Amino acid sequence: MKVTHTMQKRETETRQAQALDFLNNRLGEPPLEQGWIPFFGKAFEFHRDSSGFLVSCQQKWGDIFTVYIAGKYITFVLNPFLYQLVVQHKQLDFKAFSLAMSARTFGHPYLNDPKVPVSSEEIQKHYSCLMGEELHILVESTMKNLQSVLKQEQMWPTDWKVESMLDFCCRITFETTYISLYGMAPKNEHKQITELREKFLKFDKKFPYLVAGIPIEFLGNTKMIRKELINYFTSRNLDQRLNMANIIKARKNFFEGHSYLQDHQSAAHHLAFLWAAVGNTVPAVFWALYYLVKNPEAHAAVHDEIEHVLQAAGQRPGPDFNISLSREDLDSMVTLGSAIKESFRLCSFSMNIRAAQEDVTLTFKEEQRVKLRKGDWIALYPHILHMDPEVYENPEEYKYNRFVENGMEKTAFYKGGRKLRYYLMPFGSGSSLCPGRHFAVNEIKIFLSIILASFDVEIVEREKSVGLANNRAGLGILFPDSDVQFRYKCHQ
Ligand code: HEM
Repeated sequence: MKVTHTMQKRETETRQAQALDFLNNRLGEPPLEQGWIPFFGKAFEFHRDSSGFLVSCQQKWGDIFTVYIAGKYITFVLNPFLYQLVVQHKQLDFKAFSLAMSARTFGHPYLNDPKVPVSSEEIQKHYSCLMGEELHILVESTMKNLQSVLKQEQMWPTDWKVESMLDFCCRITFETTYISLYGMAPKNEHKQITELREKFLKFDKKFPYLVAGIPIEFLGNTKMIRKELINYFTSRNLDQRLNMANIIKARKNFFEGHSYLQDHQSAAHHLAFLWAAVGNTVPAVFWALYYLVKNPEAHAAVHDEIEHVLQAAGQRPGPDFNISLSREDLDSMVTLGSAIKESFRLCSFSMNIRAAQEDVTLTFKEEQRVKLRKGDWIALYPHILHMDPEVYENPEEYKYNRFVENGMEKTAFYKGGRKLRYYLMPFGSGSSLCPGRHFAVNEIKIFLSIILASFDVEIVEREKSVGLANNRAGLGILFPDSDVQFRYKCHQ
């Protein structure tokens, strides 16, 4: 430990000296925000208020600076016009970092290990099942499944029914996504899915600690919960399920074809995928619904659009929950799409990380070169861009139609008079772009169109202010810091 601290001190001193060089306009490393607590550095400040902390660093150092967080030197690039260079740079890698993080968090073997004959590229080929024609099939089954979940819960109250909104969104989204991807058991398994969801949520609470590298043994009963979760996905259990999505079938066949992977290791890969599919979708569904219901003008505009599309498609909501909308119908809901994007803008805090493969010098402009050491991380933090008043007027405000222009999706956003290539990034970028992004948006649209078409919905605790819980900053869509009561009844 002592040796590590001495080495760390030496490295820090070198970095600080180099940072001074940089300030003097000499070639060097970016300015360093170090903190005085060994190992943790600025971890607590980042954890408390990630955006506020990064903006204060930006005011002090400019658009590029390094922060020491939990044993890692992370160089932040906050100028959106420089994003492209980071995203496309050949010596900046996403895979090694993400594979190590996934292996540690979900307990599967590290892929791309020379001893393991499976590459992550082979697994990525299956992501085509989340796009194009395949996506039509998945969207159709999700539409049916969501409604069968609502029907099963006997959800057609003629008088107001009060519920907690996050709990409601989580319950419906989790079960719908799970059966749409992993298929259904031959007999009713609502109770088992409830247990699975409860375990999943307990595991999810510890997710940020696992990602931060805290050994699972230090996290109470998390290891046992993870083992129980993994057991849901053994070959024997998956073999019994009907109507599994093609993406899961393809992954299952692929893992089973590699005999070196033990059954529980393949099952851990399935758990990782389930986390990817619901970990962000649940809070995204919550925020999209919350903002709409909280803003009467937005609610009315989106409701009108949904009604219009339903009428044109000859569909009517009712207690039998039998609405069928095509992907084209969903795509045509531009106002709803904008409202969802607006909630992404406000609540997405994902960090796009790349690791330097070698010592590397990034040339942003002729006069701006930045040195990184092998193993250092470079990060984009798009939430700062999402809240930039030069790009988005009154960025703190929820404007449901911010992404609509002349009845079409608005894609032109500017900073300093220059058009931005990157202006909204809830789904990562380049090699780390989320393969489930189209499915996610369709799923959120399905949820909102069925709920808003079927029910009158109101927030009960109108004065309550619901904020963002910062504990997942850097990892995706933030959860609310508390739940909120709402009520609904069927349209009469
Ligand atoms: C609103 C919902 C979602 C958001 C905001 C989101 C966001 C993201 C982001 C930011 C990443 C990159 C992670 C990183 O940089 O470390 C990612 C990766 C991923 N997402 Fe999503 N995601 C969502 C929904 C989904 C869904 C529904 C699926 C699948 C059905 C999915 C599957 C994946 C997978 C498999 C990866 C890892 C890809 C790889 O191998 O590199 N996501 N997602």
